Amino acid sequence: MKIGCPKEIKPQEFRVGMTPNAAQEAVARGHEVIIETGAGLGSGFDNDAYVAAGARIVDTAEEVFATADMIVKVKEPQAVERKMLREGQLLFTYLHLAPDPEQTHDLLASGCTAIAYETVTDSNGGLPLLAPMSEVAGRLAPQVGSWTLQKANGGRGVLMGGVPGVGPAKVVVIGGGVVGTHAAQVAAGMGADVTVLDRSLPRLRYLDDVFGGRFKNQYSTAGATAELIQSADMVIGAVLIPGAAAPKLITREQLSTMKPGAVLVDVAIDQGGCFETSKATTHADPIYEVDGIMHYCVANMPGAVARTSTIALGNATMPFMLALAEKGWKQACQDDPHLLAGLNVHAGQLTYYAVGKALGIDVVSPAMVVKA
Ligand SMILES: NC(=O)c1ccc[n+]([C@@H]2O[C@H](COP(=O)([O-])OP(=O)(O)OC[C@H]3O[C@@H](n4cnc5c(N)ncnc54)[C@H](O)[C@@H]3O)[C@@H](O)[C@H]2O)c1
Repeated sequence: MKIGCPKEIKPQEFRVGMTPNAAQEAVARGHEVIIETGAGLGSGFDNDAYVAAGARIVDTAEEVFATADMIVKVKEPQAVERKMLREGQLLFTYLHLAPDPEQTHDLLASGCTAIAYETVTDSNGGLPLLAPMSEVAGRLAPQVGSWTLQKANGGRGVLMGGVPGVGPAKVVVIGGGVVGTHAAQVAAGMGADVTVLDRSLPRLRYLDDVFGGRFKNQYSTAGATAELIQSADMVIGAVLIPGAAAPKLITREQLSTMKPGAVLVDVAIDQGGCFETSKATTHADPIYEVDGIMHYCVANMPGAVARTSTIALGNATMPFMLALAEKGWKQACQDDPHLLAGLNVHAGQLTYYAVGKALGIDVVSPAMVVKA
């Protein structure tokens, strides 16, 4: 199969859909890999690394789209990219179609087959192609939060781990899923005194079993949150209610009960944020202050560490990418119901129920489509 990887063109996006290592694996299996010149530069991979992996470099995205049987990307195709998709072409990338009718209609009109990273599942009920980015955002949260805690950045001037004779920072993590667990691990590793709140007892049991000695956990109620934030130096918002906007767990009024210069890191900002005073910010201008409390609310946190994010995403997507290249999308989806869960669009038909419901478009069962 001819596998093409264009340079990402969405503003502030430095990741790339294929690493040189993934390209090498595909080439070793007899596939042809076509990379747009400079596609990997934002993640620290130059053209030479791809050439050494056996890939071919081309000058334009047009050439990639015109040549490849399968396009592997990171972000949803932008309008100009959607015009280059064609009937029978396979697209493997993040799509997030439900809130995006324009993209959905363009993909349907193109006749392509589109598999969305975010809806591919695994046998534990997880989302294996979303998890790496949650891991990155979670581990990054205490790092950016500790920078924000520094005096020059508006924070309380508290060191995460303290020093001998001076206690550590107190960190509260609301939501103990993928983001929250990784955030708690790093904050505890920096020496902070960490408490994780979650509403799921099985999840709290897991956290207690695995991390019992390293950080504390508590059942999440409005009362527990109100009490804990009064003494917190940093609160990390990491809740998710699938398919819904994030619940607002700290009100503006409650900010006055917190220590001046304390920091809120709202990782859940991509779902609207879990603090009432959160508003999405960018890497160029990531923090702002409300009532003496510093807020960090960057909606695409993994972009700050594009190289790590690209490699982490590539590790997760590669086995699926290779299966698609090896077997073709139909056979690969017949063999793997988790990959089939990623099928969103095929030959002008929508194949993902939640997207159809959100956009009022008829849906064809993905199982029917792969059997046809
Ligand atoms: N800003 C970014 O760059 C970025 C990057 C990755 C993920 N995210 C976002 O981070 C959020 C968390 O993602 P995740 O992968 O960890 O999800 P997850 O499903 O693994 O974990 C969410 C957790 O929140 C818990 N929860 C739900 N309601 C709660 C409440 N009221 N109090 C306490 N806990 C509650 C759930 O029980 C679950 O354990 C999502 O909104 C996700 O989109 C943002």
